[in-house]
Amino acid sequence: MLSIRNQFPIFNQILSKGQPVTFLDTAASAQKPRSVIEREAEVAERFYANAYRGVYRFGALVDEELEASREAVRQFIGAASTEEIAFTAGATMSLNMIAHGWGNRHLQPGDEILLSVLEHHANFVPWQQVAQRTGAMLRFIPLTATGELDLSDPTLFNERTKVVTVTGMSNVLGTQPPLDELSRKTHDVGAVLVVDAAQSLPHGPVDVSATGIDFLAFSGHKVYGPTGVGAMYGRRELLEAMEPLLFGGHMIDQVHLDHSTWAAPPARFEAGTLPILQAIALRPAIELVQSLGAMAIHEHELALTQAAHAALAEIPGVTIYGPAPEQKGAIVSFTMQGAAAEDIAHLLDRKGVFVRHGHHCTMPLHNWLQVPATVRASFGVYNTLEDVERLADALRYVRERLKLD
Ligand SMILES: Cc1ncc(COP(=O)(O)O)c(C=O)c1O
Repeated sequence: MLSIRNQFPIFNQILSKGQPVTFLDTAASAQKPRSVIEREAEVAERFYANAYRGVYRFGALVDEELEASREAVRQFIGAASTEEIAFTAGATMSLNMIAHGWGNRHLQPGDEILLSVLEHHANFVPWQQVAQRTGAMLRFIPLTATGELDLSDPTLFNERTKVVTVTGMSNVLGTQPPLDELSRKTHDVGAVLVVDAAQSLPHGPVDVSATGIDFLAFSGHKVYGPTGVGAMYGRRELLEAMEPLLFGGHMIDQVHLDHSTWAAPPARFEAGTLPILQAIALRPAIELVQSLGAMAIHEHELALTQAAHAALAEIPGVTIYGPAPEQKGAIVSFTMQGAAAEDIAHLLDRKGVFVRHGHHCTMPLHNWLQVPATVRASFGVYNTLEDVERLADALRYVRERLKLD
């Protein structure tokens, strides 16, 4: 994996005081490889035009590139057809489209939406809104002491369950819910399974067809791709029976003075001008992840996560939240007794160590953890064991500065 770091230009710099960049915030947004940066520039410099509108050669090339990118997404997530993949602005938009477009149309008073407090607000608030609008109820899957889903209650999945919506990987605890089991239980009661793959996709393989995932959402920027683009996957029959969230150009079939009809998916869900450069440059990001291979990425990130757990265990006052490294993704969230999360993040920055602090858009989860905020170190393909050592050294510096010893 070390050679991969050279493909990310951001690491070719030395910060003030001779510090290297120790970037431990990939869960918020991943750094970009040269192939992604150059692809966006290449399209802008050589053949940029609007998409799905012009027949002139630039327009045709843009359409071709966008469809190649859609095909790359299809392969990446194991979808049956590119017609099941709509480009969106990212996971948040995809999840809102699913919740409103499918939920508003198909949920009724008394129906249950099954989810857990692990969810990022992007996969929580839209469903809360839909529940308020339709009279459906949010029902929560309990968590075990280490923050994994406790599916032992036989009443969780029942005839009122209409949708089960889960994160593929918690952005705080790293928990990876058992998607195969959830898919079986969801389909046994005739419900649909929505997976928020914003965190999981960069770290491991997903196959919507093999697993039986009905809807999936992800963001390009977390998978080493550009910002402003992501995708919504939906099984064909579900997309066909779903309302768009946005209305306007490209998504219509016929527009009359008194009513309009919609184009077939995916165009129905792509109103307006797409993030063209970004959607095209998503393909080299996917190709990079595929070229490394899911198993190699997993092994590399597991080694970093194990090393981080071991190093942080040596530091007095540190509590790590969530499952053991072997049971989770490459995220280590922690608190340090006597130090506010924000102060820790500021002091780590002085050492060139970049982490996120706060509730990470998961207030219900932090209420469950009974802490207002955590510090989160998250890893990507470019991180190294030296990064983990620098985190541990910098945390010792925090203790010194705050006179905690
Ligand atoms: C689990 C999870 N879901 C959804 C999102 C929202 O992603 P975006 O802000 O790219 O729409 C995030 C972002 O942190 C996330 O971690």
